Amino acid sequence: MNGPDLAALLARHARVRLAHLPTPIDPMPNLSRSCGGAALFVKRDDCTGIALGGNKVRQLEFYLGDALARSADTVLITGAVQSNYVRATAAMANRLGLRCHIQLEDRTGRDDVLYRSSGNVLLDKLLGATLHYYPKGEDEAGADAHLHEIAARLRAEGAMPYVIPLAPGNPPLGALGYVCAAAEIVDQVCSAEQDVEQLFVASGSALTHAGLLWGLRALGSAWRVAGICVRRKAPDQKERVMEKLSGLDDLTGHTLGLGAGDVDVRDAVLAPGYGKLNEETRGAMSSAARHEGLVLDPVYTGKAMAGMLHALRTDTDLSGAGTLFVHTGGQPALFAYGDDVLAERD
Ligand SMILES: Cc1ncc(COP(=O)(O)O)c(C=O)c1O
Repeated sequence: MNGPDLAALLARHARVRLAHLPTPIDPMPNLSRSCGGAALFVKRDDCTGIALGGNKVRQLEFYLGDALARSADTVLITGAVQSNYVRATAAMANRLGLRCHIQLEDRTGRDDVLYRSSGNVLLDKLLGATLHYYPKGEDEAGADAHLHEIAARLRAEGAMPYVIPLAPGNPPLGALGYVCAAAEIVDQVCSAEQDVEQLFVASGSALTHAGLLWGLRALGSAWRVAGICVRRKAPDQKERVMEKLSGLDDLTGHTLGLGAGDVDVRDAVLAPGYGKLNEETRGAMSSAARHEGLVLDPVYTGKAMAGMLHALRTDTDLSGAGTLFVHTGGQPALFAYGDDVLAERD
């Protein structure tokens, strides 16, 4: 494929290399047969190697690279109670000798003991992060502001804090991790001569979705990148992806100028909302497990798989095409949802 030298474009940004890369791409022949035969593959980004892996490890390589370049000794991050992002941050901070403060937001309204103490929360504590709580879940600017207040207190005590931001309007450093992943995927697919024309991925903060899309287009690939909404409805999510795409133009100094027509977001399986299960998600988790031995999570990859299966079933433009499902990890949250994830049928 053609395109600029991505390595040169990314070289201006500091990066720590902690992920186990490349992650494998596996075929999913059984699931493929059960969906009518189009080739299905899975990119195993649940296997990025740090404290149970996931997509956030690739993103954090750039945030933590920036933190070290700015001589930080403490990182702060905010996320849902069962956030994979904050857990991966705590683990990577430990590897780099940084202290880690985590702010947990109430995004789902769940307050059962399992949800509040198992899964990622158990790992956050095991990893020794300092935990803070923020009672709201839909106030990204407020969550960031509260994190900055904690950072100011730490600075007054002599620390060098670095805040990993959540709200839009910040340079999408983490998306650079998925620009690299796009190049990795193209290499793998081309050298194995796999039949891939479209990717499906969970779209939340949109760093993963935007990074993959920007990276593929920069490389000259026209593959579709379908983002399955896990946090907000399609129109808002589309805006979020576009904001990250234009941030990538700025960060790389290479203007692709991608617009609304380039962004594919789908919210057919989002209801009843972030972190809340529905029957399609339970069914998709069950299908992946029973057909392929593939374990998905209830918040992101279960919904993304449900969205992909729904799209392949209902959208004739997509149904025959070779498809790569990007498994972004998140399995620790499975244990915080308990048997709420079990489907009655397969
Ligand atoms: C397991 C998992 N998959 C997907 C996502 C969504 O990725 P992004 O926030 O880059 O859109 C997240 C976000 O936290 C996640 O934890």
